Amino acid sequence: MLQRILAFSTAFLFVSSLSAAPLPDIKMPDNGLPFQLIDGYQDYKIVATHWRIDKHELRYVLANPIAYKALQNKQKPLPEGSKMVKIGWSVKPMTAYSDALEADKLQRIEFMVKDSNRFDQKGDHWGYARFVKKGDSYAPYANGSAECVACHASVAPNDYLFTTFQPTF
Ligand code: HEC
Repeated sequence: MLQRILAFSTAFLFVSSLSAAPLPDIKMPDNGLPFQLIDGYQDYKIVATHWRIDKHELRYVLANPIAYKALQNKQKPLPEGSKMVKIGWSVKPMTAYSDALEADKLQRIEFMVKDSNRFDQKGDHWGYARFVKKGDSYAPYANGSAECVACHASVAPNDYLFTTFQPTF
């Protein structure tokens, strides 16, 4: 029995690692940040969830190991190489329990990367990128990153981050 369970879970791990499709080779139009810069982001840790009332969108914010450690230690600004990723989904009522909502379609993946050599927008050392999902494929956000910089400037004292570390205990 144990052998069977082991064989099954090994096969499952093998299949699941194979099924993680590579990220598309696309870049932000203005700053050239590639989607592939966050390769492996599915393994980053979730630090917060948000609900955007006006857009009816569920959002998860994830941090790469560098950013996660700094956030945990309340270290601001975040160190070089920090990456913050945001995933947005539409929602739908659960089939089995319609008073509960669940994530429906993945609508966007966006990220911020701390890179002082490349980015210095009035003290904001983050590069911004957004990739919008339509059907099965992604497209870089055509308006570019200027609006990201402008809006995130309103939270400059928090290292340009809206997210605060969300307790899980
Ligand atoms: C009009 C304001 C506004 C604009 C424009 C904007 N953001 Fe944000 N961003 C927010 C708010 C508010 C949050 C937190 C709530 C949420 O998760 O949606 C956020 C959260 C984020 C996060 C998670 C880290 C954090 O700061 O909390 C990332 C990553 C991010 N935005 C990237 C981008 C990128 C990339 C762009 C441009 C393509 C962009 N944002 C444009 C307001 C904005």
